Amino acid sequence: NLQGLDLLAEIQRLKKERNAVILAHYYQKPEIQDLADFVGDSLELSKRAAETDADVIAFCGVKFMAETAKILSPQKTVILPDMAAGCSLEDACPPGKFKAFREAHPDHIALTYINCSAEVKALSDIIVTSSSAETILSQIPPEQKIIFGPDRHLGGYLSRKFNRDMLLWPGVCIVHEAFSETELLKLKAQHPGVPVAAHPECPPHIIDHADYVGSTSGILQYAQTITGDTLIVATEPHIIHQMEKAEPTKTFIGAPGADGNCACNICPYMALNTMEKLYLALRDLQPQIHLDETVRLAAKKSLDRMLEMAS
Ligand code: 13P
Ligand code: SF4
Repeated sequence: NLQGLDLLAEIQRLKKERNAVILAHYYQKPEIQDLADFVGDSLELSKRAAETDADVIAFCGVKFMAETAKILSPQKTVILPDMAAGCSLEDACPPGKFKAFREAHPDHIALTYINCSAEVKALSDIIVTSSSAETILSQIPPEQKIIFGPDRHLGGYLSRKFNRDMLLWPGVCIVHEAFSETELLKLKAQHPGVPVAAHPECPPHIIDHADYVGSTSGILQYAQTITGDTLIVATEPHIIHQMEKAEPTKTFIGAPGADGNCACNICPYMALNTMEKLYLALRDLQPQIHLDETVRLAAKKSLDRMLEMAS
């Protein structure tokens, strides 16, 4: 029974006791973002996980992110407050099917979005995040054939931007898929001239209305450069917490879903992490990420290529 416990104080105490670092993604609840040692996008969080000298990494994000930390820092204990914090993109790409697809296209390399399982990373050549994908794709010779998975919207966006055909795996992020073009157009009409920032996981009918397209960290930077005082944000709305901290005088409006508000665009997987579960994870060092060493080494190869090519 955790009633009456000062969770914040207990988390801070356990963090010291365990020599733990708390890493959080921008889509986490504000109270978790505020207590984390570092908040960032997928690429920044991978780099932090690779560099930390802590003994324990408490990863407040989803499972593929915590697995990435373990792949890069195998000697560390990596805990995830709720092991059920998955991702619709990971679910859309079972390793067996991905392997068969690769084998059916032996002349293609697999450029794979980090939002996938360790097994799929192990079957890939180069991993990308939304903030590193463009830099990495621009280094791959134009004649090289590419399979891009599992996010067909990010893949489609890159294909259009680089005018480059890629074989796209048919996965989507259920959060970005849920934005409504009709409701977005209504919102834009209510706020004439207000810019829209969108994540490339959004479908093209949302991207088409965006003034800026980029990763979470890119959108956060963009929010700080707009000359007006309002921005419409087409990504998971918890990032607005960081925007409001950085720009307290500006107004940030979450892009709407079909019901006309942004609550339906909260990531249900990210939302599984709570202060209570983070406290228990630090106390019990459970749930913990464990990976098969063969899978880990193969996955590390494709992640290392990302880290080399992205820098
Ligand atoms: P980035 O933070 O790398 O933009 O990723 C967004 C996302 O959907 C993570 O699940
Ligand atoms: Fe996966 Fe989308 Fe949630 Fe990110 S926001 S973890 S891509 S379901």
